[in-house]
Amino acid sequence: MKILIKNGHVVDPKTNRDGIFDILIENGKISEVGNEIEFSNGDIIDAKGKYVFPGLVDAHCHLRDPGLEYKEDIETGTRSAAMGGFTSIACMPNTNPVIDNEAMVRYVLNKAKSEGIVNVFPIGAISKGSKGEELAEIGELKFAGAVAISDDGKPVKNASLMKKALQYSSMFDITVISHCEDPELAEEGVMNEGYYSTTMGLKGIPAAAEEVMVARELILAEYTKTPIHIAHVSTELSVDLIRNAKKRGVKVTAETCPHYFSLTEAACENFNTLAKVNPPLRTQKDVDAIIEGLKDGTIDIIATDHAPHHVDEKNVEFTIAANGLVGFETALPLAITYLVKPGHLTIQQLVEKMSVNPSKILGLNKGSLEIGQAADITIVDINEEYTVDVSKFKSKSKNSPYHGFKLQGTVYETIVNGKVIVKEKILL
Ligand code: DOR
Ligand code: ZN
Repeated sequence: MKILIKNGHVVDPKTNRDGIFDILIENGKISEVGNEIEFSNGDIIDAKGKYVFPGLVDAHCHLRDPGLEYKEDIETGTRSAAMGGFTSIACMPNTNPVIDNEAMVRYVLNKAKSEGIVNVFPIGAISKGSKGEELAEIGELKFAGAVAISDDGKPVKNASLMKKALQYSSMFDITVISHCEDPELAEEGVMNEGYYSTTMGLKGIPAAAEEVMVARELILAEYTKTPIHIAHVSTELSVDLIRNAKKRGVKVTAETCPHYFSLTEAACENFNTLAKVNPPLRTQKDVDAIIEGLKDGTIDIIATDHAPHHVDEKNVEFTIAANGLVGFETALPLAITYLVKPGHLTIQQLVEKMSVNPSKILGLNKGSLEIGQAADITIVDINEEYTVDVSKFKSKSKNSPYHGFKLQGTVYETIVNGKVIVKEKILL
């Protein structure tokens, strides 16, 4: 089976390509990149006027499978990812039961093989049951196929346990991802501590709850000389701390999510539970600092933190509503609209942050259009404007604060291992 992608604007930082090229796919792999490729017997995709990217890679999502399939499962989650242009996704272990052993990792991999339509890479837990008490068997998780470890959803409260996790991770060459939140400082807070929490009479979470733990992780990474990846960075001081640590030579990488550069705490007004996320949406000053961090490379990647929840978990009082938003189907358009269009990021940087770097940080061998690579490709019109309609989402859940937003950027084609799964904006 051959497919020729013709006349698209190829942006592939790994091979230094940024221009109009054709790409030939044969037997699921990229076999040729060039101009006027000779071709017969196969399908042609006309990509004129569109960008052709290495398939997007999401380093942080929640597929809710096993145990929480009423929110999402591997089939619906990967369909949603495909619509968003993601060809590879790494899913967090806060399922029920928690993905903290070999059997659970294999379960996710097997189910992804039979029901998933994009590449799924499981992340294992740092501690057994993500309880923060006893380390999970990190070597076992790695050998079963986990690409990283994280207790995401919760912090690892005990600094000594985190230190040990880092030491083990370097033995097994597996990435540690930290959800930074000091539980005592965050207390029972439900949104960012500040003007809005005060006027709404809600308990706030101070920025310091995140920053204290970011500082701890940077110190532990420096002390153990081990890489650490900081999840969903949301505050100005977190960005400053990471920037400074990078200058010191600490092996730290960092991610943010589209909601931290496109929304502020004001989105929680009128007790809008769709804007309730953890860490919480912050202030405009923080948003500006996040964008600065993306621009200067302090923040390496944009991840979705796709966190589906059932309508019954959001249609409740703000204080008891679940944290999270569905992110796959809006992440790329949000990045284009809020970062690329205003000139904060080039297309090249966008591809680095949404494909090259996440792949590198998780060691996935994705994020490039080199010859011989599996043909994971995303074709995008960055100028097409559309209005977000959550009822059209392929995710099982619809908890997005972006319903009705006018965004630019639509995914025309998503190709995974040479198979077209989104064609002309339609999921096949
Ligand atoms: O908003 C969030 N939702 N933040 C997290 O850390 C966890 C996630 C979830 O699992 O729902
Ligand atoms: Zn988290």
